[in-house]
Amino acid sequence: MTAKIIALTNQKGGCGKTTLAMNLAGSLAAKYKVLVIDGDPQGTATRWASNADENDEFPCAVVSLSGSERPHKEITKFVDVYDFIIVDCPPSVNNRFNDSILLVADLAIIPVVPSPADLYATVGIKDLIAEVSEIREDRGITEKLHTRLVLNMCQRGVSMSGEASEALAAFGITKCNAQIHLRTIYRQTILAGKTVINTKDEKAQSEIVRLTKEVIAIFN
Ligand SMILES: Nc1ncnc2c1ncn2[C@@H]1O[C@H](COP(=O)(O)OP(=O)(O)OP(=O)(O)O)[C@@H](O)[C@H]1O
Ligand SMILES: [Mg+2]
Repeated sequence: MTAKIIALTNQKGGCGKTTLAMNLAGSLAAKYKVLVIDGDPQGTATRWASNADENDEFPCAVVSLSGSERPHKEITKFVDVYDFIIVDCPPSVNNRFNDSILLVADLAIIPVVPSPADLYATVGIKDLIAEVSEIREDRGITEKLHTRLVLNMCQRGVSMSGEASEALAAFGITKCNAQIHLRTIYRQTILAGKTVINTKDEKAQSEIVRLTKEVIAIFN
């Protein structure tokens, strides 16, 4: 078993890295052995899991490697134990954590809120991925680093502005078909230490399941 490493990354704060990391991890955990690595000194993922009821624990373990400058080395001790390792990255490109984890990641998922300002603020991660891809090539790393954008906090009935659509098209990174909508349940589940998969919100569940299937399909 060699775990597929999936990094949720974007230097833009508040775009949904932790929310998608935890929900994707919880959803994958129904079928696979999954570990979440909390790479953020804010410790949101760690706190999220610790909010769970002791009789109804978060569906996978969360380990913090925040502050580590060499998470690509530290992660090696987990890769033979899990099917998927989901890494919740900190919101900064000037943080060694992002560079390091992208060296070993199989997939970088970049959550973006579909507004022009958020899309412009996401350009830095695209540059970082290009830089890391060169380093991977120089080091003879042959495994592909897949990349996907995921639109988060979409609002029904609110169409994307022409400017946002153009910025998205110019991005040059494949967008997932699954879109995650702005829903109160995503905020509530943090406090309950759950994922939307363990709630009765079928709309939220179905968009997370759709995203999960797309992610699995990348590796099949
Ligand atoms: N689809 C959504 N619907 C409603 N609220 C959301 C959604 N996605 C994220 N949020 C909320 O937006 C806030 C920021 O989300 P989150 O913490 O996941 O972002 P982040 O990118 O991890 O932030 P940071 O950069 O600070 O780590 C949180 O309060 C979260 O509950
Ligand atoms: Mg976060």
